[in-house]
Amino acid sequence: MIYLDNASTSWPKPGQVVEAVSNYMKNIGASPARGNCTAAMDALGVVLDCRESVASFFGSSNPINTVFTHNVTWAINTVLHGMLFDGDKVVCSAMEHNAVTRPLTDLSDKGVEVVYSPCDTQGYLDLDALEKNMQGAKLAVINHASNVTGTVQDAEAISRICRANGAVFMLDVAQSAGVVPSGLSLGPDIIAFTGHKGLLGVPGTGGLVFADNFDAEQIHSLAQGGTGSLSEQSRQPDFLPDRLESGTMNGPGLAGLVAAIDFLNSIGLDEVYTRKLAIADKLAAGIEDIAGATVYRPDNGKPWTAVVSFTLADTTTPDIADYLAREHNICCRHGFQCAAVAHRTIGTFPGGTVRLSPGLFTTESEVEKALEAVRMFRG
Ligand code: ALA
Repeated sequence: MIYLDNASTSWPKPGQVVEAVSNYMKNIGASPARGNCTAAMDALGVVLDCRESVASFFGSSNPINTVFTHNVTWAINTVLHGMLFDGDKVVCSAMEHNAVTRPLTDLSDKGVEVVYSPCDTQGYLDLDALEKNMQGAKLAVINHASNVTGTVQDAEAISRICRANGAVFMLDVAQSAGVVPSGLSLGPDIIAFTGHKGLLGVPGTGGLVFADNFDAEQIHSLAQGGTGSLSEQSRQPDFLPDRLESGTMNGPGLAGLVAAIDFLNSIGLDEVYTRKLAIADKLAAGIEDIAGATVYRPDNGKPWTAVVSFTLADTTTPDIADYLAREHNICCRHGFQCAAVAHRTIGTFPGGTVRLSPGLFTTESEVEKALEAVRMFRG
């Protein structure tokens, strides 16, 4: 198999990640913060390690401001459904994915005013329009990097606009974390992340990181349940992280995430970015040379999360992806990639694109084979 679907989930995972998950399953096993046997304490230790590791990765000095969820979708829903009520206004970009658009549609049905701030055909927010749209808004939720084009928004400028308007800014780093700088130093109040994409962890991990001065009490908990703390109370504890974390934690996943972040730190984000960009540039340039091909990406030299989305004239995206899968065992994603709004913005609705998303471990030879496969499809 040639795996070119790292924007969906990264694969393969570093050996250390697989070992950490396996070690948890073989040698720890117990439920974190539930009981005082050695294994339960070890399990709790893994959760605390992961909280420190994630907090530090995103530039938070206080690990209790990091909350774990199942994934970025759950993290985003926690904030949107926990903060927005009838009469509130929320702004997002015209490049969002369904983890944002679907909860916002639900909230719109419940009386929340939802504004999609416009983006150009490369996916960049029009910051003047954003400034106007932010008036009276309680919250902005913005996709840091597009899963369709790999375009990276100017998060610092967006932070300034949100601050000037007294709005909370949640930066969705699903696609940018582990690829480009995506931490609190960019200025958001809240970071929503997932562990299984650029961070190289396993699915089932993700969460929220709050800035030190953000008051998380304004977020009503989406789900309530056991936390291992204040078990005599029938009411959810009001302190972080327990306020927003209910039920048995994903110990194996969090063990994997610690190992994944250690791995990334050992290489360094600059090096990760350089390697990914080199391979994606080669892939994009090769696709662009094919007759009738259009690649949808930011201009050369602008930050880019190594996502090569393309169309070929006179054919459909399912036809291309089916051929690549069937004849060449190439794993990619076609259609809307859960982001129809973004496709309307860049002009690829209703056909969508074929998305080839190389990862840190994609080789030049795999890129050559993928290019040859697309050339053969074209004939
Ligand atoms: N958002 C994920 C993707 O881009 C699922 O494929």
